[in-house]
Amino acid sequence: MKINITANNTAAKTIIFPLVDNEKLAENLSKIAKHVGLSAETLQQDFKAGKKETLTLYGAIEGLEKVYLLGLGKAPKTIDFVKVFRSFFYNSKKKLPNNVGLKLKLAGLEAYTEQIVNGICLAEYEVGIYKTDAKKTAEFFSEETVLEIQVAENYIESAKKTAKIGQATAETQARIMALVDAPANYKYPQKLAEFAIESGQKYGFDVKVYDEKQCLELGLHALLAVGRGSTENPARFIVMEYLSTSLENQPTATLGERSSDLPLPEQSRRIGLVGKGVTFDTGGISIKGSASMSYMKSDMGGAGAVLGAMELVAKLKLPVHLIGVIPSTENCVDGNALKPSEVISSYSGKTIEVIDTDAEGRLILADGLSYIKKNFEPDVIIDLATLTGNCIAALGYAAAGLLSNNDELANQLLEIGQETGEKLWRLPLWDDYKDMMNSDVADIKNLSAAPVAGAITAAKFLEFFIDGHTNWAHLDIAGLAFGDSEFAKMKSATAYGVNLLTAFLRKY
Ligand code: BES
Ligand code: MN
Ligand code: ZN
Repeated sequence: MKINITANNTAAKTIIFPLVDNEKLAENLSKIAKHVGLSAETLQQDFKAGKKETLTLYGAIEGLEKVYLLGLGKAPKTIDFVKVFRSFFYNSKKKLPNNVGLKLKLAGLEAYTEQIVNGICLAEYEVGIYKTDAKKTAEFFSEETVLEIQVAENYIESAKKTAKIGQATAETQARIMALVDAPANYKYPQKLAEFAIESGQKYGFDVKVYDEKQCLELGLHALLAVGRGSTENPARFIVMEYLSTSLENQPTATLGERSSDLPLPEQSRRIGLVGKGVTFDTGGISIKGSASMSYMKSDMGGAGAVLGAMELVAKLKLPVHLIGVIPSTENCVDGNALKPSEVISSYSGKTIEVIDTDAEGRLILADGLSYIKKNFEPDVIIDLATLTGNCIAALGYAAAGLLSNNDELANQLLEIGQETGEKLWRLPLWDDYKDMMNSDVADIKNLSAAPVAGAITAAKFLEFFIDGHTNWAHLDIAGLAFGDSEFAKMKSATAYGVNLLTAFLRKY
């Protein structure tokens, strides 16, 4: 699909008018009525511009085959543009011809071009790729298709730019959705590694993958402990680094040279991302019930967010220094699998008493966090993980849990969450919860005895491995990585975090 931004009237015979339910609606509808040769009253009667409401007008006048009115509801938020357009185009992509006009000018919606194009491009996504009769891409998304977006003259330049960003974002989000949606036999640690390598080669960032032997040499004992139940699909440790060419020649402090009283230029701030990459979580010996276990193919949603952010940041050539670390493993069961009661070591050297093998995410993140802290000294560390069912119990599916030891960072992330619609809600990280993770036999245990505040105690566990870093945020995305949408009857991938992280890096 090719997108043309134009100030001219489109020659397309199928036209879409998005409309907001506001004080201008009646006037806009009468303009459309005039345009298509209908009475204003009829249109105003039949179309209220509710969110996702559509009205199709056929062959109203010469040269115009179809006119769609698309409602955005009252005072739509930025994310509503993505949702409404994604849903409309997903549901009508098979009916749309190769030339479609989209009029943003009438209702003055040009400022949302990025979100609108993002939603439209995301509508190409399909989950049914494993069906033997898997349909080929809808005509509308083929190369011949031209989508003409009409904007006011003064928006041409900005709309061209933001349309590209919206399209680039959707491309990466769709790749991440496909990865998170991939079944456990199509996706294992090595597959995540290959995704990273290919993405790095294509978009320009460095990728190093450590196999199980190299992980042992590095001392990633907690990661390897979780991986012990999977001899066929061993663990991988993925380290990615993107340094904007605009920063390459700037003097960045090297490791060991940093001095806190000499602040670095804002641009050379190093941002470290860590993503939980459990490609399938059976629970291990502390095995899960089978009810929704199939959803545990999405237990690498945090890794997906990090892979997506690396790719998109590199694609958009953002002026940042970004490091992404993904500890990846399955959490499976065999005779060699990790057992409750085991005391294991970790990259940090700290010992961990394993109470429950289903609390595996925090074990592998412990290694990821200590590794990134020690080897890259990032100014900011953000980890993302489908970590606890308890976070879903607390916040449901509307917001991810945010736990941070830095108010400024937390507030920035909360704000970006609102702006992108990938919402976050802060939970406390007080030391009141710390002692719940004390172990009688080791430095820390991986599960508290009290079945309360599970999302917080998990974060307290992680905090133990950031080695005093003072600018860290943990995002518990258990309820957000996989969700309900028009794409599937069951839950499917959301690519949560890709846009959030990229928007954060664009703004801060
Ligand atoms: N991957 C799960 C968390 C999860 C649950 C993600 C539901 C998405 C949806 C995690 O590894 C896990 O099993 N957590 C346990 C922790 C418990 C054993 C302390 C949980 O939440 O029950
Ligand atoms: Mn688990
Ligand atoms: Zn898990």
